Amino acid sequence: MVKALFINGSPRKNFNTAQLLQKAMEGTKEAGAEVEMVNLYDRNLNYKSCMSCFACKVKGGKKGVCSFPDDLKPIMERAVEADVLVCGSPVYCGYPTAGLRAFMERLIFPAVNYADFRHPVINKPKRSATIFTMNCPDEEMYRANNYHILMDTNAHQLGMFGPTEVLYSFDTYQFNDYSRYDAEGLPAEWKAEKHRTQFPLDLDAAYNLGRRLVEETR
Ligand SMILES: Cc1cc2nc3c(=O)[nH]c(=O)nc-3n(C[C@H](O)[C@H](O)[C@H](O)COP(=O)(O)O)c2cc1C
Repeated sequence: MVKALFINGSPRKNFNTAQLLQKAMEGTKEAGAEVEMVNLYDRNLNYKSCMSCFACKVKGGKKGVCSFPDDLKPIMERAVEADVLVCGSPVYCGYPTAGLRAFMERLIFPAVNYADFRHPVINKPKRSATIFTMNCPDEEMYRANNYHILMDTNAHQLGMFGPTEVLYSFDTYQFNDYSRYDAEGLPAEWKAEKHRTQFPLDLDAAYNLGRRLVEETR
């Protein structure tokens, strides 16, 4: 059975990024995959980014997977074994979140082969995708802010494991009640309208993405 792993790099377990990941997960499940969601900001999950232990480069050692002994270790093993991997992150100050970056360092560095850079250590090739959510209103502004360089460069690193793609959700609803916040620069009616009209389309796109990733695996 196709194994699909979803990595939520947002601290919020039920907001924009999580909802899109859940929809993508629904798509993969309906296409027949076995699914799992990991919330990187779960308070019970204690881990760091790469600690530069170089265990993944030791002669005769286990290659291609991070074996640093903390709570991320079993998740890294499942990420390496997954056939489908979908990461999600809000844009935070122009970058993916620190949580997702930590996960990426621990996924990607063990696959970098210091013995022969042309041949990464890929224990299991996989289809992958990254879902980015942001306050940024559209793709034009995304590019004007250089997010395509900072965010997409991160996302495309997953391409070392096989075909990868990126899904964007722009102009997201940041709060449930805009009247509680000093956020006059973000007109509440506009954000509500976008949430009502655009976000459902983004959810559909995430669902279709999930289905497609599994179908293309077969
Ligand atoms: C710390 C922080 C930094 C942010 N930086 C940006 C940013 O640089 N560009 C942007 O478009 N949105 C930015 N946002 C907005 C979020 O990316 C956006 O609301 C996102 O959809 C939140 O995801 P979530 O609902 O899954 O938590 C930021 C939000 C926070 C909390």
